[in-house]
Amino acid sequence: MKTARLALVCLLLCAAATAQQLSLQWQQVQPGVWKAVAGTPEKISLLKAAGATPNAASLQKLPAAQFPLPQTDITVRLEDGKVYLKFPLERDEQLFGLGLNFKTVNQRGRVSQLHMDHYGGTDNGRTHAPVPFYVSSRGYGVLIDAARYLTVYAGTAVRVDTRHPPELIDRNDKSKKWQSMPYSDGVEVLVPAAGVEIYVFGGPTAMNAVQRYNLFNGGGYLPPKWGLGFTQRVPTLYSQSDILREAAEFEAHNFPLDFIGVEPGWHSMSYPCTFEWDSSRFPDPKGFITSLAQKGVRANLWLNPYVSPKSSLYSKVKPYAGTHTVWNGLVTDFTIPAARQLWKEHFIKNHISIGVSGYKMDENDGYDKWLWPDVASFPSGTTAEQMRQVYGVIMQKMTDEWYREQNQRTYGLVRASNAGASNFPYVIYNDYYSHPDFITALVNSSFIGVLWTPEVRASKSAEEWVRRMQSVCFSPMAMLNAWADGTKPWSFPEVEKAVQEVAMLRMRLLPYIYSTFAQYHFEGKPPFRSMNLIDGFAYAARETGGKLDATLNPYEAKTRAELKDQYMMGDNILVAPVFAGEKSRKVQLPAGKWYDFYTGQLAGENQEITVTAVLDKIPLFVKDGAIIPMIPARRQAPKAGEVLPLEVRHYGTAAGSFTLYDDDGTTFNYEKGAFSAVMLNVSKDKSGTLKGEMSGPVAGKPFGYEKKVKWVFMTKK
Ligand code: GAL
Repeated sequence: MKTARLALVCLLLCAAATAQQLSLQWQQVQPGVWKAVAGTPEKISLLKAAGATPNAASLQKLPAAQFPLPQTDITVRLEDGKVYLKFPLERDEQLFGLGLNFKTVNQRGRVSQLHMDHYGGTDNGRTHAPVPFYVSSRGYGVLIDAARYLTVYAGTAVRVDTRHPPELIDRNDKSKKWQSMPYSDGVEVLVPAAGVEIYVFGGPTAMNAVQRYNLFNGGGYLPPKWGLGFTQRVPTLYSQSDILREAAEFEAHNFPLDFIGVEPGWHSMSYPCTFEWDSSRFPDPKGFITSLAQKGVRANLWLNPYVSPKSSLYSKVKPYAGTHTVWNGLVTDFTIPAARQLWKEHFIKNHISIGVSGYKMDENDGYDKWLWPDVASFPSGTTAEQMRQVYGVIMQKMTDEWYREQNQRTYGLVRASNAGASNFPYVIYNDYYSHPDFITALVNSSFIGVLWTPEVRASKSAEEWVRRMQSVCFSPMAMLNAWADGTKPWSFPEVEKAVQEVAMLRMRLLPYIYSTFAQYHFEGKPPFRSMNLIDGFAYAARETGGKLDATLNPYEAKTRAELKDQYMMGDNILVAPVFAGEKSRKVQLPAGKWYDFYTGQLAGENQEITVTAVLDKIPLFVKDGAIIPMIPARRQAPKAGEVLPLEVRHYGTAAGSFTLYDDDGTTFNYEKGAFSAVMLNVSKDKSGTLKGEMSGPVAGKPFGYEKKVKWVFMTKK
């Protein structure tokens, strides 16, 4: 009897300790999007927190896709209460995404622990958007939908039983073929949870996989037009009169300004925050917002989410707060609807009802020592780790809803995001400040459905200032964040003109940029995109270096050269920022002819070119046949009902077309069909003469341009 019982206990224990191999059932949930469930997924996940509705109609329009991987090569094991996943990897594959990285583009050969955090200078998975989504150069994407700290071995792990073992090479061999990292045939992921949902996005191209990912998450966000103008964030303790004076100075300098960012000083207490106006600096918030509005300027309010004991929200939020404080403030459990409702009432009453246009939601990412610790708990039962992975996303969703209910678009900033956020009105920023790395982040943002701004704060020289200003004007948010030291666009008088010119160029390009964001919304194509997403442009990461050096490179390991300092703005404009100190730079031109944006002259074709750095210009190249709609230079984005003259540029010698999108610029009426999508066509007659034509617009739909277009053929024969 005793032995039988012992045997039973042993059996149970052994079963618990044994790994359980699962076979996945893939179900097509949208055209070209498949889902499988492993084990028992948790109540909260990244996509569940984001709660987006797929844009089924747009997904339907993408090219048909087959399940892109051999299903039997995707393996899952449950062991120790965790999920172990393996996806196959071919020899020639490059992997992109896996969080908002700042230094590397191709993630193959890297290990990351995707963990929400303030970026600390190393691409290790700790970042503002630790999105567990990767896109392969072979044209598919994979998303692991878990609100957990996931460890991803992206082509580094090699199993003993692999069917594709790496070649065995002796390092002593003279051939120098030995590699510190042998070939691995898989991406392995450790999910510290008893179950998880997995999604596979079909291609056939990498861009198609990204489009599917964005459309599955509702399509990209279409910002209000004013959101695409210039924004200045003022020093922390500015009062309402200081800010009104600042707006007047922008006018005096004829510098674009659509919205102003009000930093911590507007709260009656900040760090933690009251979300209530400070009466000494802001004696008349409503009057202040109204006076700004009279200048055509909107206000965006900074906050961190920690509720101050001095706030009237404090006692109400207390029953819904976590066990730990941040800067003495309560951490609201936003997974509880009643808690969100309290915030909503407070925010509508104090800000939105008087015309505040949006928020900058700070400090919801990390740093570890400032955020709530992983030992915290929350009343909903959501663990501290899960809360950390989704907090920024829930805040985005919640605030977006407040504005949607008013039928008003917002556009703001957030320091924490994650999977599922494509359709949220927020741009990521941080406190890090490497200009080249900021551009790499912009490149990488395009793989993971987030927007990133390489914000300008300060500079050591006029040269650095103009270079940074140039690149921020070619990003999702053209922003100067002067919270710390009060810099102005004209802080370096020797380059004031160049800075003003690039800001005005952005304003002139608004019809192009707005149409590009409409494409993000309706087609899922990221507005600012990596060259690796461009059709027919496969930039293979090149291996270089490898010299033995006992301190720096003890294994003669090679370093990887990858394309991380140039990108596309929309379909037609290739942006190649210059960094301070550079006298020239190399630019990789994809197949087809490319033209200089400023002169219309041929720049090259399917080749690497070297461009000389000219201080007052950011190098821009335009594709053959490209059409670029522009408006006259102006300080503010067009308002609803305005009708502007349109200059439409054509580059090169090929025929082409462009969909010019327009709507009222501020509401969600476009979702009900209140928009124009007008075709701008350039055709070529027998003699080779180019002719431009605009078809439409449809009467009764919002369209803010004159019907008579000025066509400019930039490339002279
Ligand atoms: C930081 C933020 C800055 C600025 C500052 C104000 O956390 O990243 O952009 O807002 O707070 O205290």
